[in-house]
Amino acid sequence: METVGVIGAGQMGAGIAQVAAQSGFRVLLSDRDVALAEKGKAGIAKRLGSAVEKGKVTAAEAEAALARIETVDHYGAFGDAFIVIEAATEREEIKRTIFAEVGARMGPNAILATNTSSIPITRLAQAAPDAGRFMGVHFFNPVPVMKPIELIRGLATSDETVARVEAFAKALGKEVVHANDAPGFIVNRVLMPMLNEAIFALGEGVANVRDIDAAVSLGLNHPMGPLTLADFIGLDTCLEITKVLFTGTGDPKFRPAPLLVKYVEAGWLGRKTKRGFYDYSGAEPVPTR
Ligand code: 3HC
Repeated sequence: METVGVIGAGQMGAGIAQVAAQSGFRVLLSDRDVALAEKGKAGIAKRLGSAVEKGKVTAAEAEAALARIETVDHYGAFGDAFIVIEAATEREEIKRTIFAEVGARMGPNAILATNTSSIPITRLAQAAPDAGRFMGVHFFNPVPVMKPIELIRGLATSDETVARVEAFAKALGKEVVHANDAPGFIVNRVLMPMLNEAIFALGEGVANVRDIDAAVSLGLNHPMGPLTLADFIGLDTCLEITKVLFTGTGDPKFRPAPLLVKYVEAGWLGRKTKRGFYDYSGAEPVPTR
């Protein structure tokens, strides 16, 4: 059984760990401490439990997948992994520290991949043990549900690394798309301006939260309205990525909406803080404007 290392047991890391385990890989799951990794694993157990209830997987399959996930409190065991996927906080200095620590323990042919949604791969590769065996693997939230993986190669990424990661992504049952190392890659380059524009429209009083979301989700047949989706992703993450698009391209069309900046400054980050464009403290989300 091949081993996959996952760093970060939050929404994305836990989702990646779940999909890898369900695809038959042994998974080493780590976070800042083992309690956080355990929390991520408990969330996976809960989601697998509801998949069993819905008859999507059998109880035996869910149990076997969960048994393939091992929480670890250090990177010592990562020497076994053929690929390590970093899905930690979207802060460059944190990722760089992780790369130095885990890089020293990885096997000589192992690949280090980052799930960054916006930091340039070529720049991050400088902190990796070998830029040739480093690349971006951008998953989408919720990972078990969303089909694509964007593969992003840095300037020095080898063809062999791309081929091995592509084979791995396919083994997870995902649809591979290739993107160049440009700000926002493909999806966020297209998505963030839409979310940002919805927030401009809200700030300018074009319509209220409910009507913007209803108009876009029903009018464009999107599963979620843009303000619901921004809350789901996290407004801090949306702002970070929008800033990367803005500074990375120098194009004023990507300037962040002032209301987005204000919400982040207020600590209203969406679902995770129970307050964003909706209030999530009750049973149903309630629009706030
Ligand atoms: N983890 C695992 N599975 C989940 C899940 C989660 N967090 N949330 C929902 N699901 C599953 C459900 O179990 C259900 O599975 P089933 O069809 O096998 O029963 C299925 O998804 C549908 O869920 P629900 O019926 O509860 O709810 P919805 O039909 O409203 O769907 C949704 C929920 C899948 C989240 C849907 O609203 C959606 O697709 N929204 C858009 C999500 C999106 O755009 N994601 C991309 C964000 S951008 C990104 O990630 C990039 C980053 O860099 C910012």
